[in-house]
Amino acid sequence: MHNPQLNRHGELQHLLTLDGLPREVIVSILDHAAPFTEVAEREVKKLPLLRGKSIFNLFFENSTRTRTTFEIAAKRLTADVVNLNVSTSSTAKGESLLDTIDNLCAMHADMFVVRHAASGAPVLIAQHLLATGRDHIHVINAGDGRHAHPTQGLLDMYTIRHYKRDFGNLIVAIVGDVLHSRVARSQIAALGTLGVPEIRVIAPKTLLPTAIETMGVRTFNDMREGLRGVDVVMMLRLQNERMAGALLPTPQEYYKVWGLTPEKLELAKPDAIVMHPGPLNRGIEIDSAVADGAQAVILPQVTFGIAVRMAVMSMLAGQ
Ligand code: NCD
Repeated sequence: MHNPQLNRHGELQHLLTLDGLPREVIVSILDHAAPFTEVAEREVKKLPLLRGKSIFNLFFENSTRTRTTFEIAAKRLTADVVNLNVSTSSTAKGESLLDTIDNLCAMHADMFVVRHAASGAPVLIAQHLLATGRDHIHVINAGDGRHAHPTQGLLDMYTIRHYKRDFGNLIVAIVGDVLHSRVARSQIAALGTLGVPEIRVIAPKTLLPTAIETMGVRTFNDMREGLRGVDVVMMLRLQNERMAGALLPTPQEYYKVWGLTPEKLELAKPDAIVMHPGPLNRGIEIDSAVADGAQAVILPQVTFGIAVRMAVMSMLAGQ
């Protein structure tokens, strides 16, 4: 089946999801990102690969890390970046998403980086650009609803490859609020494509999407059992803002059963790494002693995220 993210030459046109993205494309993004980590060490942290390009950051939902790392990545590639503050823009006056896009196209946008609470918003924009003959403009999904967060998934894969080298013999556990997590969906898709033989999902039954097993994962409702012998622990934030109704007891009780403490982490392999996409809820899904401990690679994830976003943007622009 044709992948709508690839153009007819098989090159990346948009980055909307990691689901169905070919292995060689994912590996190529990770390979492209590696030299970009060195740019950050230089005194002049700039490469002219996106010189003269206009990139619009459209964040219809809150973000700190993702928005700023996209901005830094674009600036290090010498693009002109415009951050739209959507809460005070015309959207707040009732303008539709596609009208906003049309107006930014009239300003000669080259790329949109979009975060939206509605699953499917970046796909809708890409389809609109295609239908109106403006498919030279690229769309990057920076997180849509519960659907996908492809650059987060990619930076997570970059981090795992950095510390573990090879995906082919790993046991990886994703722990916590999988139900509301676009990050988990992108992680599972990428881990599967990259050939991780065992992907575990550890969560209370109320925070597991139905039919998650069809994504090729093993589910665990007991954290201690699930953590035994794993190489990588990927924690998820408890997404209170997406929680409709009472899916959970109190945060204190959640911490007691599902919080990653040093004692629970001991069940994983001694050299296991601990990841988290941020923002952290200390004392809810993760204990501070773990978050700040020797096995945590949470801040390197942020740093690698810049290089991975530089790789995605430069590849989309054909560089
Ligand atoms: C995640 C997100 O917004 O999807 N954070 C991020 O992008 N770093 C995860 C979350 O909010 O829990």
